[in-house]
Amino acid sequence: MITHPLSDDPHQDAEAVRAFFDQWEVYRRVLEADCLHHRAAYAALRAALAGRTEPFSFLDLGAGDADCSTAALAGLPVREYVAVDLSRVALDLAAGNAARLGAAVRVEAGNFVDFVRGAEETFDVILIGLSLHHLPAGDKRAFLPALRARLRPGGALFFYEPIAAEGETRDAVLARWWDVVQATWTALSAEDRERVRAHVFASDYPEAEADYARWARAAGFAGVEVRFRDAEGLYALFEARA
Ligand SMILES: C[S@@+](CC[C@H](N)C(=O)[O-])C[C@H]1O[C@@H](n2cnc3c(N)ncnc32)[C@H](O)[C@@H]1O
Repeated sequence: MITHPLSDDPHQDAEAVRAFFDQWEVYRRVLEADCLHHRAAYAALRAALAGRTEPFSFLDLGAGDADCSTAALAGLPVREYVAVDLSRVALDLAAGNAARLGAAVRVEAGNFVDFVRGAEETFDVILIGLSLHHLPAGDKRAFLPALRARLRPGGALFFYEPIAAEGETRDAVLARWWDVVQATWTALSAEDRERVRAHVFASDYPEAEADYARWARAAGFAGVEVRFRDAEGLYALFEARA
């Protein structure tokens, strides 16, 4: 197990997360059925970036295969695209998908916490897509100042993550999530739903929107906005401005 001691919380089991995402075809079926609202969330990301006319650099943390992120960026003036992921399988796909940007592309295998804490370069835009939630609360909070330090003036951090209602416990939100999955993820086989359930119950730590906003402001971000939220209040895209 790889651990990343940022706080007193129990740490992310990065090995278990990597093992799940190395079976990329299961996650791909989740994406294709749009179970996680990627279409709407990444359309909101594109809308938020559409006003950028100057060439910008983009750091994609937990990029996965980068299909949705690079599709959202297509046609925008991306100068440099960097993907970081634990999964080599996903990164090989990300390198192929990022070719559509016509930008300088780099992929880095490893833990994004180590990458951000070890990096000296800064970026105009940082995205964390459905992967910050694998860190327990204390580690998320401790990571935000390091993310803030990697942003250029005028930069923005976006994160699309599972959320909890105010005061809702992890057990309660995961139980609510599983009810929604059973009722609505009908395009997936029962076996796939069970694989995702095992991963989520082992590795996911949703947070309340107000907690994310408070931690981001404490980390020095100027403002935090929710750019997209699903109808069930289970996922939200945040923008935190430098
Ligand atoms: C649910 S997928 C999300 C992929 C893509 N960003 C999206 O929005 O669809 C999570 C990805 O984050 C990666 N990941 C999770 N924790 C990570 C960490 N600490 N460092 C690097 N990659 C991580 C996993 O390997 C996986 O590819």
